[in-house]
Amino acid sequence: MIEKIGIIGAGQMGSGIAHVSAVAGFQVKLVDVREDQLTKAVGGIGRNLERQVAKGKIAEAAKDAALARIATATDLSALADCDLVIEAATESEDVKRAIFKQLVPHLKADALVATNTSSISITRLAASTDRPHKFIGMHFMNPVPVMQLVEIIRGIATDEETFQAIKELTAKLGKTAAIAEDFPAFIVNRILLPMINEAVYTLYEGVGTVEGIDTAMKLGANHPMGPLELADFIGLDTCLSIMQVLYEGLADSKYRPCPLLVKYVEAGWLGRKVGRGFYDYSGDVPRPTR
Ligand SMILES: NC(=O)c1ccc[n+]([C@@H]2O[C@H](COP(=O)([O-])OP(=O)(O)OC[C@H]3O[C@@H](n4cnc5c(N)ncnc54)[C@H](O)[C@@H]3O)[C@@H](O)[C@H]2O)c1
Repeated sequence: MIEKIGIIGAGQMGSGIAHVSAVAGFQVKLVDVREDQLTKAVGGIGRNLERQVAKGKIAEAAKDAALARIATATDLSALADCDLVIEAATESEDVKRAIFKQLVPHLKADALVATNTSSISITRLAASTDRPHKFIGMHFMNPVPVMQLVEIIRGIATDEETFQAIKELTAKLGKTAAIAEDFPAFIVNRILLPMINEAVYTLYEGVGTVEGIDTAMKLGANHPMGPLELADFIGLDTCLSIMQVLYEGLADSKYRPCPLLVKYVEAGWLGRKVGRGFYDYSGDVPRPTR
């Protein structure tokens, strides 16, 4: 039975997962290597909860109770009493493998481990733990409190008990599950990221400006956000990482990351989370950079 949930990584996704878990009544331990990220995450969760109160989605008392259920730490040993740990750290296989190696000695024998990876093989990540049968992909969407979907991905060794427990948890969090097989980038990002990468190519080749491309896709394809705006929202480092996983994992040149996306990441222009990507977020309204 899952009562205590540990979350590793207090970025955009980890803080969102902490938010919905706490609102659903779970005790949450949020861990990040960076103390400033933890402070920022708790502040952000508080503001997002207030927004939900203002919209009448949750009561004031529920907001306070949810915040009181969230504890933070900078050390993985804080996760020793968790029934489930969800890893939501940076999208890098090396980072994630190192985390699992450090995490395993602290875990309860029957604790489940999930990863929120957007693209990396669940089977490979599972193999870096002592419990591949209790390891699973639980891919939330951004922003977590708003988006309805959780993709659930079994690795080759994931057992039925773990799969059922995570399906039940997804429903308790008020989310809808879609089941995906363990292929690079699963369902959503296998389809979404090549489109975003193609949008960056159209910018790179001068087919359109940032504004032109986003307006075209919003009004011409009825997308709620333009692809470049969406890329900034996801994080350009995460987008690049997913394209690299697709390119290498499927060995098909159609997935090669656009050189302009690579350049933006090299420049540290990672999107909304750092204040600049395809748009500049330093003013009142986002300003296209090209
Ligand atoms: N951004 C999206 O739209 C989105 C959607 C679904 C899934 N994801 C996945 O969620 C994960 C996190 O993405 P994000 O957008 O929240 O990234 P982010 O950059 O906002 O946050 C990553 C966090 O991980 C922390 N971190 C790095 N190394 C760590 C370590 N060793 N131990 C603990 N914490 C560590 C960083 O300090 C940072 O706070 C990635 O795997 C990403 O692919 C992202």
